[in-house]
Amino acid sequence: MILRIFGGFPLSGKIAISGAKNASLPVMAASILTDKELRITNLPDILDVKNFAYLLESIGAQICFDQFRTSATLTCKNLTQKIDPVLAKTTRASMWLLGPLLARFGKIRLPMPGGCNLNRRMDLHISVLSSMGATINLEGDLINASITNKLIGTKFTFPKCSVGATINAIMAAVLAKGNTLLENCAQEPEVTNLCLALQKMGAQISHSGNSTIEIQGSSSLNGAVHEIIGDRLEAATYAIAVRIAGGEVTLSNIDHDLLSNVFDTFIRAGIKIDKISHNSIKISCFEDIKATDIYVAPHPAFPTDIQPLFASLMCTAKGTSKITENVHPGRFLYTNELRKMGANIVVDKCKGTAIIAGTPKLTKATVEAHDLRGGAALVTAALGIKGETIITNAQKIYRGYQEIEKKLSQCGAKVYLEQVSNTCY
Ligand code: EPU
Repeated sequence: MILRIFGGFPLSGKIAISGAKNASLPVMAASILTDKELRITNLPDILDVKNFAYLLESIGAQICFDQFRTSATLTCKNLTQKIDPVLAKTTRASMWLLGPLLARFGKIRLPMPGGCNLNRRMDLHISVLSSMGATINLEGDLINASITNKLIGTKFTFPKCSVGATINAIMAAVLAKGNTLLENCAQEPEVTNLCLALQKMGAQISHSGNSTIEIQGSSSLNGAVHEIIGDRLEAATYAIAVRIAGGEVTLSNIDHDLLSNVFDTFIRAGIKIDKISHNSIKISCFEDIKATDIYVAPHPAFPTDIQPLFASLMCTAKGTSKITENVHPGRFLYTNELRKMGANIVVDKCKGTAIIAGTPKLTKATVEAHDLRGGAALVTAALGIKGETIITNAQKIYRGYQEIEKKLSQCGAKVYLEQVSNTCY
């Protein structure tokens, strides 16, 4: 897929934020924990959800999407534990088959999950599930896991914060025998959203949004109806787009509080965020884009997923800014593309830092989206460039952004999508 962007037009109007990708995928995986119907609303219509739905269907899940693909009913009665490696490689979310299939059916042979080329590690997932009594062997590219009877409750402190491993541990513990105490858990709002969904299904989870989660295992779970939270990462993307292009845009379907951990940084950089109602915010601009340092770390620190987008903003800031990336230290591939647009960025891979000396403007180029957020950063950068920017491999962006070209075009941007495809392998 190719995006053609003619920048230099200020944005004005409204954008409806979709449901959060990183909240949708775990809740879809949670459907494996019951044989009853799980209805999920406010799903984003994006490639990652499509690909994860194909994967769930390939193991026997029945999934019925509504006409607009923003809600779905999932039923998991009899599932096979053999997983197609090609489908597993389409999304990192395949990691979330491990905990639920093990908890409900006692065994799984999981090919190594795919997704963005950032994080292929599964050791924390394996450690926490092993501490619940699972036997797990690595056979080449396959994780072979089984239990003799039931998973058993455990006390486990994560040596490092991991969203994925925290979610796998929660999903395994809700059907384990006895109590589980998880410490140093990831605190992202998407983890809290999963806990809410599981509580509606009858799981006994005590979680107040901090790093400790207590779970009392149940013998089975019920069906439920659950609404996915708005996508804070998509909202932050459009906030940065407005700052780069100029203008004023209202974002709906997003709770102001979900962005509270980036407010201060955004204000320092020149982005004004006003709360309009409980689920809408107005984005406008202060006078200059000011150079602002960021230090990326697990929630509630500055999010790694917004780091590439923030870097695209800093390319034309007044002054020099420093990015320190502590979650995915290799997340700088997009800087090669921004450099083709004239950005002045020096990356130190060993330190996980990027120094950006702002220039007054970037220039049009043909660039490649290597991953989801890095690709979105090229879109935001292009909105500030007069002339045509071409972004190839744009299917990476559509893994996580629903109709980005339409949402921007309805606010006055000139963004055109060509060669539409439904896959992102
Ligand atoms: N890690 C390990 N061992 C593991 C798992 C992770 O060392 O077993 C390390 C990773 O290498 C990384 C850190 O722990 O350095 C954090 O990784 P985490 O497990 O939290 O990442 P993830 O669960 O695989 C999710 C999101 C990512 C997001 C990270 C933020 C989904 C599908 N993915 O990934 O989202 O960057 O959390 O921590 O929810 C995106 O949306 O663009 C995206 C990449």
